[in-house]
Amino acid sequence: MTKNFINFDDLRLKDLQGIIDRAISLKKKHKSGKINDSLKNKTLAMIFDKSSTRTRVSFEAGMTQLGGQSLFLSEKDIQLGRGEPITDSAIVISSMVDAVMLRLSSHEDIVEFSKHSSKPVINALSDESHPCQILADLMTYQEYKGSIQGRKIAWIGDGCNVCQTYMQAAAIFDFELSITTPVGYEPSNMFIQKYQKKVNFFNNPMDACRDADMVVTDVWTSMGQESEKKQREAAFKDFQVNQELMSSAKKDAVFMHCLPAYRGVEVSSEVIDGNQSVVWSEAENRLHVQKSLLLYLIEG
Ligand code: CP
Ligand code: NVA
Repeated sequence: MTKNFINFDDLRLKDLQGIIDRAISLKKKHKSGKINDSLKNKTLAMIFDKSSTRTRVSFEAGMTQLGGQSLFLSEKDIQLGRGEPITDSAIVISSMVDAVMLRLSSHEDIVEFSKHSSKPVINALSDESHPCQILADLMTYQEYKGSIQGRKIAWIGDGCNVCQTYMQAAAIFDFELSITTPVGYEPSNMFIQKYQKKVNFFNNPMDACRDADMVVTDVWTSMGQESEKKQREAAFKDFQVNQELMSSAKKDAVFMHCLPAYRGVEVSSEVIDGNQSVVWSEAENRLHVQKSLLLYLIEG
């Protein structure tokens, strides 16, 4: 059966941990100049209906480094954007390539695509989740701090796609997750109901951060929510990750942000550019962990 990576919990702990461990080894080998062309003659199709810097560059560079090719397909350039059914697009595209990566607003559309795809499908961000990002975050945590099991992670800000994927990861990797969001910006009910035993909710960001091993946030206004920007900035004003908030976490806590970040909005520049921040490794690790994921999905 074709394996997909649409939801973080599509794969078991053993496989996710294996992907992370292999990514750490691929990173070392790549940095020492070793060539790995295991995906020679393989093609990855990448379909985007939203902007991207990290996801696009990391998947493209990753396929090149593994000896393969990638196709950047913006929705407006392919017939999908003109109303060709997802079903037909999935059958045709997957008949010609070895894996398909999709960044689509609708999670359901990615699921629908996967039902008709004969090749592995990767969710590269939907309104519901961002599993590739959390793989990179967990790899980064392991590199800096070792095993995440039993550690305390504080999520500050919007209960968005990235936050919801943290909830899935907490259940699988068995870490403590404290979430604080403004009222009305919590994760979806479906996620709260499924993961409430694994997650602690706080009203006050200082309480959520107390003794945390890691503090993580994301933009207050995700892609597609631009018309709500003013209203969101007002609602989130007490949820900025700044030095005062970081001082509530453990002294050696790390700070993560999937990026793009807005200094002076969801995070202060002293935190994101400070010595607890690991955001540049976190971004770079998208490359290494997705190479590992591609090998896992394509080679089997
Ligand atoms: N973190 C992330 O997915 O970044 P992009 O939107 O730039 O791909
Ligand atoms: N929550 C953000 C993540 C961007 C990588 C968004 O969906 O825009």
